[in-house]
Amino acid sequence: MTSFSDSRPRRSVLYVPANSERALEKIPSLDCDVVILDLEDAVAPEAKDAAREAMRHFLRESRPANCGIVIRINPLASEWGTEDLLAARAARPDAILLPKVDGPRDVLDADAALDEMDAPPGLALWAMVETPKAIFNLGATAELGRDPAARLGCLVAGTNDLIKETGVLATPDRRYLVPWLLQLVAAARAAGIDALDGVMNDFRDMDAFESECIEGRNMGFDGKTLIHPAQIEVANRIFMPSENEIAAAEEVVAAFAQPENAGKGVIAVGGRMVERLHLGQAERLLAKVGR
Ligand code: COA
Ligand code: MG
Repeated sequence: MTSFSDSRPRRSVLYVPANSERALEKIPSLDCDVVILDLEDAVAPEAKDAAREAMRHFLRESRPANCGIVIRINPLASEWGTEDLLAARAARPDAILLPKVDGPRDVLDADAALDEMDAPPGLALWAMVETPKAIFNLGATAELGRDPAARLGCLVAGTNDLIKETGVLATPDRRYLVPWLLQLVAAARAAGIDALDGVMNDFRDMDAFESECIEGRNMGFDGKTLIHPAQIEVANRIFMPSENEIAAAEEVVAAFAQPENAGKGVIAVGGRMVERLHLGQAERLLAKVGR
């Protein structure tokens, strides 16, 4: 059984409106880790069918090999949901991103529908956290990530919808969002799945974008969702562990691998206390950078 808490890097995850031909054409030249082909909020109601068709055509005729592929469908309960799910399943993405997830029920419903469509067990579900209910149900939703049969592999912050649904003020420092973002990260970590930070709408202000990436990284996110190609390079750089961090992680792994440390829970490495919990953290970091 595939594990959905896999170790692929997800530093830069770019939304691409599925009905934008020019944007789709750009994908093979982009250096992002993942693209999300969007059928939901980036597509107007009257363009939903055309977007689904464009997504299908794109993945059949010019499927990119340079990045992971995720498809964001409309809510299953919406008039487009079932057709989106059928088309997404047939297009063989790495994951299907569910919008407006309120709680575990929404993930389980999508999982059951995929099982019914004989979707391969390796097809993952990602969940947007963007409604007030989703915040309160974070633990229960994320917990599904422990059961591979439920397919849940990643939580994605939907900050624009959260602002709209809750009425919190959008400020440059995201002060009213940060508590919820930290809860999202904690829930994802508790379940051993990935967590992606929300988008920054102002794609021309690269200094502000870099600060927001650093903030997201410091909060523990694995990467950031993006809306514009100009944001990719910064996200890749900021969410990439530094050479120092990689070297430190290798040192911890090497230290615990010493025969004399085999049964020890805590050791000293370079004058610092290191516990077995740091070993897990170090191994996760090294897996993410492919070592
Ligand atoms: N993916 C791929 N290519 C993109 C892109 C994206 N998300 N955003 C822009 N581009 C392309 C444009 O098509 C354009 O290509 P072209 O020169 O061949 O026409 C180039 O990058 C430069 O784009 P630019 O002129 O700077 O921006 P724009 O005005 O065309 O687009 C947005 C601005 C915000 C409309 C666009 O970035 C976008 O649609 N982003 C994604 C929105 C989305 O998916 N939202 C839902 C989730 S929050
Ligand atoms: Mg949304």
